[in-house]
Formats: sequence, structure tokens, C-alpha cells
Amino acid sequence: MIIAPSLLAADFTRLGKEAERAERAGADWLHLDIMDGQFVPNISFGPAVVAAVRPHAKKLFFDVHLMCGKPEILLEPFAQAGADQIIVHVELGEKVPQLLWKIRSLGKKVGLAVNPPTAITAVQPFLGQIDLLLVMTVNPGFGGQGFIHECLPKIQQAAAWRSGNKLSYRLEVDGGINNQTVAECARAGADTFVAGTALFSKRNMGAAVKQMRKMAHDNDPALADLKV
Ligand code: DX5
Ligand code: ZN
Repeated sequence: MIIAPSLLAADFTRLGKEAERAERAGADWLHLDIMDGQFVPNISFGPAVVAAVRPHAKKLFFDVHLMCGKPEILLEPFAQAGADQIIVHVELGEKVPQLLWKIRSLGKKVGLAVNPPTAITAVQPFLGQIDLLLVMTVNPGFGGQGFIHECLPKIQQAAAWRSGNKLSYRLEVDGGINNQTVAECARAGADTFVAGTALFSKRNMGAAVKQMRKMAHDNDPALADLKV
């Protein structure tokens, strides 16, 4: 079970220190939300900020979530800035095959995201080419939003396709994740959990990461089967 704090919820006056705090807290990944004000109604930060934060969290896997209308111009700059994985949205339509190929050719892990209103069947053609499937559990663009429970069946379907086709992509959820919703998502089959507000708002981030990981682990269906 992977815990990935989202830097969008961090103190923007000290992003390097906040990345260090996430690493000290025992997080596995750092989730970096890249918003361009066009694909989503908000602007966050770019490759220069990711490059500046990179040396502050050498052990963390950088999970770069591109919510951008023209990701094709951004893949190389984020790869050079220190991304370990780059996620693009399936809503980009006919651009998707080329984008997935390009990320792979840059030597990075390949992620594909799907928004709440989009049918989960939209990602089916690409499941054999990705390392991670991100099922958004809020409409992208802002942190601190409420979890959309209607997304849970999409997680279950994606988990069923994974086991049914002997695939190995990680199943990530993002948006409104806290200790209650992390349990619901784990039971549905998720294994990678992005959380902004629920982690960076905590003074004792280490305890918050530990608790969230325990909630995920205790609700892992694979473990539940072992207990029977
Ligand atoms: C939203 C982003 C999320 C967001 C999560 O578009 O993709 O990563 O930062 O923040 P919380 O956990 O506060 O909902
Ligand atoms: Zn995100």
C-alpha cells in the first residue's frame, strides 16, 4: 500500500522543507499536481518548482499528475525535472496513445487518469500499456474537496480487469482521501492513495501517514481472503 502526500496542500512559502517533512513522515511517494488553468480551472506549479523540490526528497518517488491540455510540450521538461512517473488524462482523447508511448520512451513510469464523469470503459484499450491507473475521486482542479462515492464501482471494475487479465498496474485514487475513504477505496481494490489536506494539514504528519497506511492495510481485500 503506497501513501502519496499531495504537495498542493503544502505550505507554498517553503515547498522544499515540506517535501523533507513528507519524506521524514514515512511517505512512499510525493504527488505533484500540475494544473494549467485550461484543462482545469486552476494553476499550480511547473517543471522549475519540481526541479527545485527534487533534491529535498531524494528517497521519494515523484508522481507527476498532469492536468494540462497540451501535455505533449511538458513531458520532457518534467522528466528532466526529476519525475519518476507521469500521469496524463484519458479525456485527452486521440492524443493518449502517443503520450503514453512518449512517457515510456523517456524512461518514466506511465500513468493514466480518469475523471469522475468519464466512463471507466474509456481506459480499457490502454490497460496493457500502463504502470498505474488513477481513478479520480473528485473533479480535478482543487484540494480540500469532498470524496465522490459514485467513483467506488469504477475502482472495483478496474481491479476486476486487473486480476481478470493478469495485469499489474497500480490502482491509485486521488481527491478527498482521508482515514475513512481510504478504507472504502482499499476494500474496492485500490493500493495507492493520494492525500493532500488529510496529511499536510497535520502537525504530526508521521502519525497521520502511519494511521492512513494502517487503515488501507486493514481493509486490503487480499488480506481479508487470507483471514478466512
Ligand atoms: C485535485 C488533485 C489532488 C488534490 C488532493 O485535482 O489532483 O491531488 O491535491 O487534495 P485533497 O486530498 O485535499 O483532496
Ligand atoms: Zn492529483
